[in-house]
Amino acid sequence: MNQDERMFSIGVQNINLKEFSQKGRVLDIGGGGEGIIGQLLGEKVIAIDPRSDELEEAAEGPLKIIMDARELKFLNKTFDGVTSFFTLMYIEKQYHQKVFEEIYRVLKDEGEFVIWDATISQFPGGIKDIILVPLEIELKDKKITTTYGVLWNKAQQDMKYYIKLGEKIGFEVITKEEMNQTYYIRFKKKVSI
Ligand SMILES: C[S@@+](CC[C@H](N)C(=O)[O-])C[C@H]1O[C@@H](n2cnc3c(N)ncnc32)[C@H](O)[C@@H]1O
Repeated sequence: MNQDERMFSIGVQNINLKEFSQKGRVLDIGGGGEGIIGQLLGEKVIAIDPRSDELEEAAEGPLKIIMDARELKFLNKTFDGVTSFFTLMYIEKQYHQKVFEEIYRVLKDEGEFVIWDATISQFPGGIKDIILVPLEIELKDKKITTTYGVLWNKAQQDMKYYIKLGEKIGFEVITKEEMNQTYYIRFKKKVSI
């Protein structure tokens, strides 16, 4: 580790996905790495990630495609659901609106956009600081323990921030829940008249 690199960890966060389900075809953005949504929903999932190494690491089941959420290569109204499992915190704030607009575009009317992410407070210090988010994730048949580490160079990101952005794009909040230092938002795409 470089001298000016420092790591900060939040406490272990529990995420319960035992009851989570999603109908139809699901796009998982940033679906590489552990590929949690792919592990949960299998072949219903199209997992996209700009990094091929992250997609290769993810378990088999979903269709894996190298793609950036800022520029989705799908037609309008393709998916019944879109998920983002601890991916938004990896995307620079300046691109969040574009990512939300792309997700809105590829969702069918009444389709759902579901987010799990960490509450990240304002960047406090050195440009190479890393924040670690340790998770214990409960799926239907197993428990996964993992830690996501991200460069702590972002502005504050929390549930309120994403709800405001989602509503601006045209989403309606169906469910929202804060759990310790993580949160869950279920948006619905309002029917366009
Ligand atoms: C640590 S992973 C999040 C956890 C992952 N969803 C899982 O289930 O394990 C974050 C992923 O987001 C990806 N990512 C970063 N920027 C992205 C973007 N613009 N579009 C899509 N994925 C992106 C990263 O490459 C990384 O694989």
